[in-house]
Amino acid sequence: MNKISQVPAAVDPARPAPARIYDYLLKGANNFQADRDAAERIMALVPEIRDCAWANRGFHQRAARWIARRGVRQFIDIGSGLPTVGNTHEVVQLVDMRCRVVYVDNDPMVREQSRVLLADHARVRAVLGDLRGPDYVLEHPDVRALIDFSQPTGLLMTAVMHFVGDEWDPWGLLERYLGALAPGSYLSLSHLTDDQKPPLAVKEFCRVFDGATEQVHFRSKPEVERFFSGLEIVPPQQDAPTGSLCHAGDWEADDPARSDSDGSRWLYCGVGRRP
Ligand SMILES: C[S@@+](CC[C@H](N)C(=O)[O-])C[C@H]1O[C@@H](n2cnc3c(N)ncnc32)[C@H](O)[C@@H]1O
Repeated sequence: MNKISQVPAAVDPARPAPARIYDYLLKGANNFQADRDAAERIMALVPEIRDCAWANRGFHQRAARWIARRGVRQFIDIGSGLPTVGNTHEVVQLVDMRCRVVYVDNDPMVREQSRVLLADHARVRAVLGDLRGPDYVLEHPDVRALIDFSQPTGLLMTAVMHFVGDEWDPWGLLERYLGALAPGSYLSLSHLTDDQKPPLAVKEFCRVFDGATEQVHFRSKPEVERFFSGLEIVPPQQDAPTGSLCHAGDWEADDPARSDSDGSRWLYCGVGRRP
């Protein structure tokens, strides 16, 4: 079952898409049979993948709240995904109602569903844009309308860079976004890893995306750390002595004893501050 009433012309329901696969893993209803089939194939390979999706979503929300509590009042959420429980604007506006959020995603379904949800929100916009085109994204009128580039910004890029292949120079793209932001801005990023994972499961996981709208690219810890070049990585827990990447569940975990799950270990994450 799905609750999609309007399917944008650019969307092919027969082709799995990351946003809708993720929605299915999070038990949402904005997905088609092709997405559910793809998600089920991944679940057969990696039974803890649903836990991985929840661990990622938890990190996304905790990091956004943490950044808002540091006084940041504007956010660009790139690869934002379909609206779900605890959307970014809901999380940060609980810290301060004046927080502004621009959602950016290259899936027309995300744009369509977000537009319905956000119709009454003056401080929130949803942009259809591909992160591989930073000039388009950074110059988009909706981005310019809500983001004051002279002030610190929270740049949220959770579970999206693994859909960008090396041939696009994802590190260079991120530098381009960070370069546009004021000192005191923050990056929050999470990324799938194949470190210490069964190679066959990883290979078959990638193959599920062969016919999808995007392909998936696992990266090692040093490769994910490279996204934070030039940033001060913040300690992942209050009592941690230094800043470093960690697995998604461990970042500012409410209950550290239960956060280190098998699912969480498929993702590195971190928050970095632009000096
Ligand atoms: C797994 S979801 C993550 C959603 C959300 N960021 C989170 O962490 O909960 C990945 C999202 O990235 C989007 N995406 C993938 N490649 C993208 C690209 N090149 N530009 C913009 N969005 C992209 C997908 O459409 C999808 O909505």
